[in-house]
Amino acid sequence: MTALRYVRGALQMEQADLAAVAAEFGTPCYVYSRAVIEAAYNAYDAAFGQRPHRICYAVKANSNLAVLNLLARLGAGFDVVSGGELARVLRAGGDAGRVVFSGVGKCADELRAALAAGIGCFNVESAAELERLNRVAMEMGLKAPLALRVNPDVDARTHPYISTGLRENKFGIPAAEAPALYRHAAALPGVQVRGIACHIGSQLTDLAPLAEAAGRVAALRQALLDEGIGIEHVDLGGGLGIAYENEAVPSHADYVAAISAPFAGSGVSISIEPGRSIVGPAGVLLTRVEYLKPGAERNFAIVDAAMNDLLRPALYDAHHAVLPLRDSGSREPMSWELVGPVCESGDFLARERSLALAEGDLLALRDAGAYGFVMSSNYNSRPRPAEVLVDGAQAHLIRARETQDDLWRGEVMPAG
Ligand code: LLP
Repeated sequence: MTALRYVRGALQMEQADLAAVAAEFGTPCYVYSRAVIEAAYNAYDAAFGQRPHRICYAVKANSNLAVLNLLARLGAGFDVVSGGELARVLRAGGDAGRVVFSGVGKCADELRAALAAGIGCFNVESAAELERLNRVAMEMGLKAPLALRVNPDVDARTHPYISTGLRENKFGIPAAEAPALYRHAAALPGVQVRGIACHIGSQLTDLAPLAEAAGRVAALRQALLDEGIGIEHVDLGGGLGIAYENEAVPSHADYVAAISAPFAGSGVSISIEPGRSIVGPAGVLLTRVEYLKPGAERNFAIVDAAMNDLLRPALYDAHHAVLPLRDSGSREPMSWELVGPVCESGDFLARERSLALAEGDLLALRDAGAYGFVMSSNYNSRPRPAEVLVDGAQAHLIRARETQDDLWRGEVMPAG
């Protein structure tokens, strides 16, 4: 689903004119559609139907409090990977009991905070973490609910930086070692075995590796049951990829059918941790053309957004479609490189795009709602952009643009 359409030559998100949003809040600026976020969550929920399930939104994709609050109100659970993300979920009104805590490097303070909050499940990624969790929980007089995150050694066939389910990746416990570690966990006094977790990668548009990983989790579950170790839920990781360019993306129904097939008739609850597919298509990054610099080799359009605002193109060579906010009328299109003001040749947002540009034009980089703002930085001392949530014709500021004072908040010049 998209909420973007041209109405009389002006790009709208839902019923809001994006040029008016840019005029009100400035550029660069992230803008998200409430309707698209809600529809994406509801599509997963509907695809599971009556089967016991939990949708734990992956907070890392977009952790703005307003976004988390929307999802909390829909009944979402949350997948967090740090104490900071957990604090955001709680602050946004999320239910701690529906939080799962993933990640390879949870420190003792983070474990304590999550135990104190009463989260639903720790997805433990190593034998060493299991020992630490047991110790911390015992010190607090609690029993930590856990799943072991197993690494199924399945090739997700996605970008190597976001592939996680191969033996060579740092994530999870090798599948062959999992049964022994479960036996050990079952005997520890500070933990309680609840589930099996697994995540093989992100931006997956092929269901076969997901189905294969689910099959391996089902086999492990059966082996544990045979030993008397009960498993209440299986957590099958992130959600679907999205169509940044013209990728064919499976439907929610096909995705749920593929991952749940190995558990047919088992009654086990299935959790997923989608991030990108919930917020990615809901967001755009608005930017203004500062200068046009046509050249013999390449034509550069220098815009006011940069790699510090949207890192995905520089880091993964990722594609984001570019839409002009106003119909360019009779101007002739040319091939442009969209680049930012940051002093790095890697600072590009889009390459070889056929556009009819003029200085001052406003553009939207599409599908920027996931892993956009959250990966932004202050590199080159650039204040981070504003974030806006569109709801019908209304545009709400959900994070103010940073000011120059924000840039040096916490910095100290020692006297003398
Ligand atoms: N669960 C776990 C354990 C994960 O590691 C991730 C993503 C997710 C869930 C959410 O996956 P999703 O539904 O969003 O595919 N920065 C990269 C993406 C990194 C994803 C890392 N893990 C990008 O911009 O493409």
